[in-house]
Amino acid sequence: MTQNYRITLLPGDGIGPEIMAVAVDVLKIIGQQFDLQFEFQEALIGGAAIDATGEPLPSTTLDTCRQSDAVLLAAIGGYKWDSLPSNIRPEAGLLGLRAGLGLFANLRPAQILPQLIDASTLKREVVEGVDIMVVRELTGGIYFGKPKGIFTTDTGEKRGVNTMVYTESEIERIGRVAFETARKRKGKLCSVDKANVLEVSQLWRDRITKLSQEYPDVELSHLYVDNAAMQLVRAPKQFDTIVTGNLFGDILSDAAAMLTGSIGMLPSASLGASGPGVFEPVHGSAPDIAGQDKANPLAQVLSAAMMLRYGLDQPKAADRIEQAVFQVLEQGDRTGDIMSLGKNLLGCRAMGDALIKVLEEK
Ligand code: IPM
Ligand code: MG
Repeated sequence: MTQNYRITLLPGDGIGPEIMAVAVDVLKIIGQQFDLQFEFQEALIGGAAIDATGEPLPSTTLDTCRQSDAVLLAAIGGYKWDSLPSNIRPEAGLLGLRAGLGLFANLRPAQILPQLIDASTLKREVVEGVDIMVVRELTGGIYFGKPKGIFTTDTGEKRGVNTMVYTESEIERIGRVAFETARKRKGKLCSVDKANVLEVSQLWRDRITKLSQEYPDVELSHLYVDNAAMQLVRAPKQFDTIVTGNLFGDILSDAAAMLTGSIGMLPSASLGASGPGVFEPVHGSAPDIAGQDKANPLAQVLSAAMMLRYGLDQPKAADRIEQAVFQVLEQGDRTGDIMSLGKNLLGCRAMGDALIKVLEEK
């Protein structure tokens, strides 16, 4: 029987529309092959939404997302909107979407593909076999804590304020996602905090430690974030699953992504307790190459695979997309960001065509 899914597409800014077009083509073929009917609706977010409506997240966009089975997002932001006040910048649209859909858990896998080992800036022996899942808390911490703002003091000096805050229940719910995730992987969880300095991290460490009693099969360790950053580039193979707060997760997931050679390869899933998840590449909108057909669409395509796996419970369709990505890499197809000597340099569209060809072969 045909399964119907309503998918909201948020192409956003910069390279967003180009990479989204490739992912949609891939989903259409996958739909035919797996008897899935996708009803796509496009909505505005980020700079594109600011230009059209004055707001980075129009309420119609949030409503459309809420009514769908999953949301596929490309990227937001660009130089054009960089000088706007923070509450109407493109980034505010993304944060509003995460908060509006209650997406507290962000899964960011960083797996090095054998075909791309030489694209990594680190030595082969350091990165070979790296397979890390960063579980980042996404709707709390310093991104959302109050008070926040730029205030003027009695002496007329300006004072910028953000507040890093976590409640026990927020720590516990992301902790559970992380322990469950680690359980399905190699059973190792490293919790990252700054408990040597921050009270909020002391509470984080206490709660995560307490929670670990319910997961005796998962081996828990703790690292301070500065050490974790160092270990990630020194010996990344020691990590399996990492759980951390919003800001540390933002930073460490970029570092983990780059171990694999290019951030242009990595997808992510943002999930809540219920309702649709948002699936998006870890990379940004790359305004410097937007509109030039140079972008790597593979992170977007792999985000569509994560959508099938985690959002729509269609693991076989997800596997198929991931295999197609391996295959195009195997046959030597590369976009500029992952190019190396002797490989075929393709643009965004041509990379999409190569994927379609592989998918049509079987
Ligand atoms: C990310 C991005 C966002 C974040 C920005 C664009 C708001 O860097 O998804 O990692 O900081 O969360
Ligand atoms: Mg980031």
